[in-house]
Amino acid sequence: MNFTEHILQWHKTIDRNLPWKESRDPYTIWVSEIVLQQTRVAQGTKYFHRLLEKFPTVETLALAHEDELMRQWKGLGYYSRARNMHKTAKIIVDTYAGQFPKSYKEILSLPGIGPYTAAAIASFAYDLPYAVLDGNVFRVLSRAYGIFTPINSTAGKKEFSQLAEELLSRDHSADYNQAIMDFGALCCKPKNPDCEQCPMITDCSAYNNNCIDQLPQKEKKLKRRSRHFIGLVLAKKEGVVVEKRTEKDIWQGLYAIPMVELKSKSSTDTMSEMVASMFPDQEIAHVIAKDQKLTHQDVHIDFYKVGLNDHVESEIIVSTETYDDYAYPRVIDEFIKDYLRVS
Ligand code: ADE
Repeated sequence: MNFTEHILQWHKTIDRNLPWKESRDPYTIWVSEIVLQQTRVAQGTKYFHRLLEKFPTVETLALAHEDELMRQWKGLGYYSRARNMHKTAKIIVDTYAGQFPKSYKEILSLPGIGPYTAAAIASFAYDLPYAVLDGNVFRVLSRAYGIFTPINSTAGKKEFSQLAEELLSRDHSADYNQAIMDFGALCCKPKNPDCEQCPMITDCSAYNNNCIDQLPQKEKKLKRRSRHFIGLVLAKKEGVVVEKRTEKDIWQGLYAIPMVELKSKSSTDTMSEMVASMFPDQEIAHVIAKDQKLTHQDVHIDFYKVGLNDHVESEIIVSTETYDDYAYPRVIDEFIKDYLRVS
C-alpha cells in the first residue's frame, strides 16, 4: 500500500465524530473551518454550534450587525476572522446571489480564506481535487518523508504543497483530506505520537531515523514588536467610557477604553504628567498595568483612572448591566470586569 491508501484505510478504523464532518453544505463547512483556523477542536465546537444557531444562513450573517457577530465571537480571539467572515458573507449575498461560489479560485478570492480553507471547502463541499495543507499535514508529511525544509519558508511551502497535491486521492478528495487531518490530530501528534498504532511505521523516515521530535522544522520567528499604551479609565458614576476601535490596527471592531500610544516604555512619572496635562484639574491615579501577547506584538497597558462626572451625550458608558453588550480585547475585558466587579 502507498501513503494515500494507508491514510484512507486508517481513516476507516477510527471513529471521530465532529459535527461538521456530516455536512456537505459549504456555509456550514466554511463556518467550521474559520472557527478552527486558530482554535482547538474542543473549544471551537461550542462556537461552531453557537454561530450556526445565531446565523443559520449566509444571509443572516450578512445582515447581522458587526457588533453582534463580535459578541458571539467573544472569548475566541483573533477577531479579524470574524470581521472577514462578515465581509465574505456580504460578498456572497451581493455578488453570488447568496450561493457559495463553486470554484476553488473564486472561493480563494474571498476575505479570510487562504489556500488551506479554500481547499477544505472545495473538497468537503464539492469533492474538488485540492489538497489541504495545515499544521497537521505539514507534520505528517515532514515525518513520513523526512523533509527538513522549514515549513514556514517559501521553499518549504512550495515543496510541501507539491507533495500534498501529489498524494491527494483525486477520487476521494474529501475523505482523504479529512483523513490526513484526523491522522495528524490522533496518531501523528505533535508530542508523543502513537507510532505503534501507525500503519506506516515501517516506511516512516522520521521513525526509522529517530528524528520524530525534530520534525517539522520551522524558521525562527521575526522579532516581536513591543507597544506601550496608557489606558484612560474615564470613570463616570454609572461606569466607564468605552469606544469602538475603528482604526486599521490591533483590535479593530472591538470596544476598549480610550488608549494613548507612547513612543517607548515610559516611567510612571512621565505617564502621570501626560495624563495630568490631558485632564487638568482632574483627579488621576495609576490603577494597574497589564500585558497581552498577540501573534506578533507584546502590548503593555498602564491604566490611569480619571475622575469625571460630567456626562457627554455621545459617549458609550459600560456599566455592570451593559458589560455584556460589547466585545472587548482580552486584556481590556479583564480590566473592565475587575473594575466593575462583574462576576
Ligand atoms: N481542523 C480544521 N479543520 C478540521 C476538520 N475538518 N476536521 C478536524 N480538524 C480540523
